[in-house]
This record gives sequence, structure tokens and C-alpha cells, in this order.
Amino acid sequence: MSITENIVDANQYIINDEPYYEPVDQEIALYESAYAVRMPMMIKGPTGCGKSRFVEYMAWKLGKPLITVACNEDMTASDLVGRFLLDKDGTKWQDGPLTTAARIGAICYLDEIVEARQDTTVVIHPLTDHRRSLPLDKKGELIQAHPDFQLVISYNPGYQSLMKDLKQSTKQRFGGMDFDYPKEKIEVSIVAKESGVDVETAEKLVQIAHRARNLKGHGLDEGISTRLLVYSGQLIAKGVSPLAACSMTMVTPLTDDPDMRDTLNAAVETFFG
Ligand SMILES: Nc1ncnc2c1ncn2[C@@H]1O[C@H](COP(=O)(O)OP(=O)(O)O)[C@@H](O)[C@H]1O
Ligand SMILES: [Mg+2]
Repeated sequence: MSITENIVDANQYIINDEPYYEPVDQEIALYESAYAVRMPMMIKGPTGCGKSRFVEYMAWKLGKPLITVACNEDMTASDLVGRFLLDKDGTKWQDGPLTTAARIGAICYLDEIVEARQDTTVVIHPLTDHRRSLPLDKKGELIQAHPDFQLVISYNPGYQSLMKDLKQSTKQRFGGMDFDYPKEKIEVSIVAKESGVDVETAEKLVQIAHRARNLKGHGLDEGISTRLLVYSGQLIAKGVSPLAACSMTMVTPLTDDPDMRDTLNAAVETFFG
């Protein structure tokens, strides 16, 4: 059997331009310390609160390549680790993203890890303890992770049910950081900067979000994310009326319940009516 290898250029995963990131607390320094000891990290928080942006920013700041995997329940261990492919020239081993990251010394970001099945998740175990290795069972190769390699996972605590959670044996391999929607003043800056609306409009959007976030657990599964506020601002900056923009981004995606929609629309009208 002839096996050809694919060689990956680490440069394609380097982030060249500084991502816009507004620090919310001590998270940059804490992450730098965690990276210095190559501690696997778990970033927890609601959707759209800045987890992925933070990881991109840190990869840029540390000058390390970043490989992101959006996890889903159909994902298998082979999707992460790699598989043999057959083509007309013979058999070719194709590294998965986790293997590539371990080889080139990237930060590997497994986004929404709990979406993956537990039998998939366990492949990260040998990479997240003193071994820092990854067995490619099918290929009969044991990879020793590059010294720069680090594993980061994101996790939305709101979604977990007992059926769908990480095992303790997985959780206890990571240091954790709690993320949440940024504090009011910071969120206003983010919305203004990311969408191009003036500060006054951004303040109103953030105020509406604060009201809606109080409804979490009282009819809403999650609050309005920073991401949705940015969407709203982007539409307003394009000339869409604030009422239509807010309804499109801050009401319709969140809920189908007519009463809840009325409540949210009323909040929007308080500020933009
Ligand atoms: N601290 C922050 N600095 C800059 N932008 C932010 C920040 N927090 C959130 N955002 C904005 O919110 C959006 C959603 O954040 P993202 O990192 O994709 O969320 P998550 O990964 O938590 O779901 C980003 O695209 C960005 O516009
Ligand atoms: Mg994300």
C-alpha cells in the first residue's frame, strides 16, 4: 500500500490582522498565563458573548496559528483525527484538524464541544494530560504534540441537559474561564464599533438587551446576545428603521411565542417608538 502524506502550511492558520477585541476583565493576562503552561482551556458562556472573538484575539496576540472546529453531533473521532482516503493514485492519509493542530503547534479551538458525542470527545484525552500525544490508531502512528499546541473548548452552560454534558473525566482536564455579556459601557462600545451606529443608538440597543436578558428563564431560553445587537446596529447603520431592525434581529430569532414577542416589541418601542 502506498501512502502519501499531506503537508500543511502553518502560515495559512496565522491571524495577520489584529481582531477587534474589547477586554472585559483580566481575561487576556489569565489566558496568557494558561498558555504559558499549555493548560487546556474551557471558555464558558452564553452564545454570542465574545468567546470565539476572544480566542481569535489571543491566537493573534500569541502569534500562533488557530484551527477552529465547529462541533456537531454527527462528528466522529475520525473527523477530528483523520482518515484514509482512496483515490486513483492509491491510499492517502488525510489528517483531521486536531491532528494538524498537534503537528504544527496551533491553538485548536473546539467550538461548542458538548454538541459532539462523548465517544468523539474522548479522543482529546491523551492530548490534554502530561502525555500531550495523539494516537492515530488506524494509521499506527503516535503523534507527540508540538510544544506550541494548545487545546481550547467552548461550552454554553445554558444548553446542557444530563444527556448532553461533558464527562467529569473530560471536564477535569481543563482550566475554565466564565464569559458573559460585557458590562454595559463596554457592550455599548462594542456595538458602536462593530456596527457603525452612534453611541446613543448603541446605548438604546444595549438597554433593550438588558430588559430582555431579565426574561431569561421566564419565557426566554437565552438573552439577546451581543452578536444580535451588532446585527441590529448594522441594519440601522444601513438605513433600516430601528423598529424593523430590532424586530428582525432581537425579536424574531429569539422566540415564536406571541406573548413574548409582544413583550420584546414593547421594550423596543420604549426606546425607539
Ligand atoms: N469583547 C468583545 N470585543 C469585541 N467584540 C465583541 C466582544 N464580545 C462580543 N463581541 C461581538 O459579538 C460578536 C459575537 O461574539 P462571538 O465571539 O462570535 O460569540 P460566541 O463565540 O461567544 O458565541 C462578535 O462578532 C463581536 O462583534
Ligand atoms: Mg463562537
